Amino acid sequence: MASNKKTFKGKRIDCNDYSMSDFADFRSNDLFEAAEYFWEYVDDAVKKKYMVYAQPMMSGPRTELEVYDRNTQSVRKFLNFCSYNYLGYSFHPDVIKAVKEALDEFGTGAVSAPLLSGYSEPISRLEEEISRLKSKELSVVFPTGYSTNIGILSGILKPGDVAVLDVLSHASIYDGVRMAGADIKVFAHNNPSHLDRVLKKTNKKRVLVCVEGVYSMDGDLANLQGIVPICKKYGAKLLVDEAHATLVFGEKGGGVAEHFGVEDEVDISIGTFSKSFGAIGGFASGNKKLMTYLRMYSRSYVFSCAMAPHTAVGILKVLEVFKKDPSEREKLWRNTRYMHKKLEEAGLDIGNTKSQVIPVMTGSDLRLREISKRIQQRGLYTGVVTYPAVSKNKTRLRLSVSSKHTKKQMDQCVETLKQVFDEMKD
Ligand SMILES: Cc1ncc(COP(=O)(O)O)c(C=O)c1O
Repeated sequence: MASNKKTFKGKRIDCNDYSMSDFADFRSNDLFEAAEYFWEYVDDAVKKKYMVYAQPMMSGPRTELEVYDRNTQSVRKFLNFCSYNYLGYSFHPDVIKAVKEALDEFGTGAVSAPLLSGYSEPISRLEEEISRLKSKELSVVFPTGYSTNIGILSGILKPGDVAVLDVLSHASIYDGVRMAGADIKVFAHNNPSHLDRVLKKTNKKRVLVCVEGVYSMDGDLANLQGIVPICKKYGAKLLVDEAHATLVFGEKGGGVAEHFGVEDEVDISIGTFSKSFGAIGGFASGNKKLMTYLRMYSRSYVFSCAMAPHTAVGILKVLEVFKKDPSEREKLWRNTRYMHKKLEEAGLDIGNTKSQVIPVMTGSDLRLREISKRIQQRGLYTGVVTYPAVSKNKTRLRLSVSSKHTKKQMDQCVETLKQVFDEMKD
């Protein structure tokens, strides 16, 4: 809902009376006035030790982190259940060695857009490898996952076209459709019969349905067996964002579409290198004609610097290691199953997760704030998820499990959560 000066009643802001959503659509004649009010809100949150975001990490994303804790103004050790380093590859010795060698050969950056001189040989090899992983003809490597979605969606859709999104789709999917000026329609999360009704009502030819393989805030899987036939029935095209699913699901690591045996029914498969690959970047895979078109018409690709060559070399090494040795993925699945079981036994609400992305539901914004403060005081780092990533009263902690977590660390994580949630029952 839109807010304005009156919302904040002209008095000093108490952060407990508001949440992030109250500042998102602030109406004023002064462009910068929202920031004035937001500053007071943050200032109060800092004083109350609720500001747990964007604290400087003093070490890399291993299972233990050193963090500069603003609340205590000191460097503290935390148990890390926050990073997307699902397979621990960002520290794999072979990957680090390959990246170091590539740095010597290629320098620190691509320093040019890909259509000019930024398209390095490692990127071209990476595109071939990703196409094999995804069983698609051609892939395009983008600087980030976010820029992949906005580039692909704004490259395909035009004003008057319709994108039908699972309501829980990632912000980058919504933003890409908005950028295209196409109409957004949503269907209830993972609900094929609602998708059927929405497509029937839409009654248009140029329609793209977008879903995620593993939902980034819930950890559940796209109901592709239900969704694919509905898309076919109406002749709608299908995009699946496999950001959290790639290298985790599917026999060869292709994602949830592979897991359900529907890879051929997916028109565009999106992924990122910022999760299981332990790096940064994104990709889109599809048929060669479509991808050749999108390489030239995705503005976030055309008008942005290419991925650094050493990053591409590191990701290629990850793929090599992954193919040779399945043990990290097996460990990730053992850890994931263990965490599901332990968290459920502890009486915590983990929604409908089926993956290494595990929400622990916290309810209201205020409750999340108090819980996240207390778990950090006890040395546990998790995702702290509130609006705009989820709606205001569906806040949660988000745990990211890694193959590298030990049983002791997982037990400690669950114990800390249990203690804090028990305290908060009062
Ligand atoms: C489903 C999904 N798509 C896209 C992105 C954006 O990816 P990146 O962080 O690599 O830009 C994310 C990031 O978390 C995501 O969860």
